[in-house]
Amino acid sequence: MTTQDLLQTIEALTTRALRELQAARDLEALEAWRVSYLGRRGQLTQMLRSVGALSAEERPAGGAAANRAKEALESALERRQEELKATALERGLAEERLDVTLPGRTLNLGRLHPTTQMVREICNIFVSMGFQVMEGPEVEWDRYNFEMLNIPKEHPARDMWDTLWIDRVDDLGERTMLLRTHTSPMQARIMEQTRPPVRVVVPGKCYRYEATDATHEWHFHQIEGLAVDEGITFADLKGTLYELARRIFGAERKVRFRVDYFPFVEPGVDMSIDCFRCKGQGCSLCKNTGWIEILGAGMVHPKVLEGVGYDPNVYTGFAFGLGPERIAMLKYGIDDIRHFYANDLRFLRQF
Ligand code: DAH
Repeated sequence: MTTQDLLQTIEALTTRALRELQAARDLEALEAWRVSYLGRRGQLTQMLRSVGALSAEERPAGGAAANRAKEALESALERRQEELKATALERGLAEERLDVTLPGRTLNLGRLHPTTQMVREICNIFVSMGFQVMEGPEVEWDRYNFEMLNIPKEHPARDMWDTLWIDRVDDLGERTMLLRTHTSPMQARIMEQTRPPVRVVVPGKCYRYEATDATHEWHFHQIEGLAVDEGITFADLKGTLYELARRIFGAERKVRFRVDYFPFVEPGVDMSIDCFRCKGQGCSLCKNTGWIEILGAGMVHPKVLEGVGYDPNVYTGFAFGLGPERIAMLKYGIDDIRHFYANDLRFLRQF
């Protein structure tokens, strides 16, 4: 072979190699290309070997040409590698791209039950007046639910509460355990545990053996209130509950107290507010009386104080109990207490 032949062959090989390289579309094809031209048995490698067959004068020129071709192919391979990597990256990015013009998925946020909202609103009002919030057991002893509240066994006042009893009797065969009919038993539990001053509100669930109707549920909530200290008078009761009425039903509210009977207070009262819908003129909400009853209250009975070891000659106090569902019904115009626990989202979503 002459140098001339060799140079031509190298030239042709290089051109073909570069064309094929441009056609390689992925890294695998590149590797095959590399083996085919630059590998140990590759076409160019063999050509380099054939330089040895040239005569001594021709060898330098042939060797130089073959080496230039090798360098050219090697650097072309590197460039092509970079190119392919860059396009692969671009394609990857294109695939991952987010289309931010798609509408988002709505997140369904839950909310607090209307009773919970009302309980919190009422408790917060009392907290702002210096009361603590406590909770107590829903399964209660007869002793706390009735006896410590001045309601002895066989006393007709027990008829005020339709009771769900737990199957459990004492040695005398008397039923001892029940689902609490009100939150008032916490009065005795709290006073047993602490010395005055006491200022506390107790929200919680209550249960009654009751046929349900628009104003009666067999389970419902109450918030009990209790304030005991030296020198507490009926004026404190009035002022505190008046403030509650104004904060919930509007600053222009009037309140009215009338005598009522609860065994654990003396005197006992019920409190009404002037009808916020008709402003006291008379409407269906207030049954044409102009007044709406919202809670029971009174001065803590001396027997209740004695029962927990407080001296009624030193300490006095007031107590009250109210139903948050009932307050919510008045405030929002809800006509049936059974809506609260029917789990109808159309109702619940309004609050
Ligand atoms: N516990 C009473 C009931 O369920 C409500 C009540 C009335 C609570 C007067 C009181 C109170 O603390 O002083 O009917």
